Amino acid sequence: MSTLKGKVALVTGGSRGIGRAISLALAESGADLAVNYAGNHDRAEETCRMLRDKGVRADKYAANIANDDENHQMIAKVIADFGHIDILVNNAGITRDKTFTKMTPEIWHEVLGVNLTGPAMVTHEVLKGMMPLGWGRIVFITSIVGQVGNFGQSNYAVTKGGLIAFTKTLAREVARKGITVNAVAPGFIETDMTSAVPEAALEQVRANTPIGRLGRPEEVAEAVRFLCSPLSSYITGEVINVNGGMFMG
Ligand code: NAI
Repeated sequence: MSTLKGKVALVTGGSRGIGRAISLALAESGADLAVNYAGNHDRAEETCRMLRDKGVRADKYAANIANDDENHQMIAKVIADFGHIDILVNNAGITRDKTFTKMTPEIWHEVLGVNLTGPAMVTHEVLKGMMPLGWGRIVFITSIVGQVGNFGQSNYAVTKGGLIAFTKTLAREVARKGITVNAVAPGFIETDMTSAVPEAALEQVRANTPIGRLGRPEEVAEAVRFLCSPLSSYITGEVINVNGGMFMG
């Protein structure tokens, strides 16, 4: 279904993992794609080729989302190239795990910068062009960790919990402008991010997940696609869990 034909989507961290799956799902619905990435040029280009194979326009934009100047330049370039941004998926995120007493201020600030302040500042800049359009979709990729916490991830949990609070607040502020703001909270998904998790810990995850396995990036992407589509027009300030039943809230 080409429900997003004519729409332009910016996906942060869109070159791999969940972000790539989201980009591909939006392209399947007909959206043109601006793919933000941090540094891996080849992987971003590979993603763009996959997107163009689906018949949409796609281009890659290198920017560290924790850096305001890079964000502003990226967004200006996307608008110069595509004309407008109708859909923003704030997907980029990092982990720097340590128990809180061992956590350095550096990694605390680094994770807050990329996972919380970065998405807020990208959204701030994108909204300037989105508000006058009278239609928009903003989705934040949060995490089950922001809902229930996780040992060794206080910095990450704060950012993901913060994104949920931000989603609900911003949803109220921009609803009358035709813009919905929602979040998707994945559980444990098979990507580069979880490939570093020890097998014993993954076994524990499977045991605590009613569906009994990790999720796939495509399963997260489907929820995002729905929230970006005209079909979700009366849903805002919501968090959709994609976690195999690990947390039901
Ligand atoms: P990943 O590590 O495979 O991909 C992360 C993406 O973010 C990469 O494209 C990377 O280049 C980009 N990125 C990182 N720092 C950036 C920066 N400063 N500026 C721009 N881009 C940057 O991770 P994955 O698993 O695909 O995660 C995507 C999102 O989903 C993240 O927000 C993560 O926290 C969230 N998530 C992932 C879960 C999982 O189990 N994999 C579970 C819950 C949430």
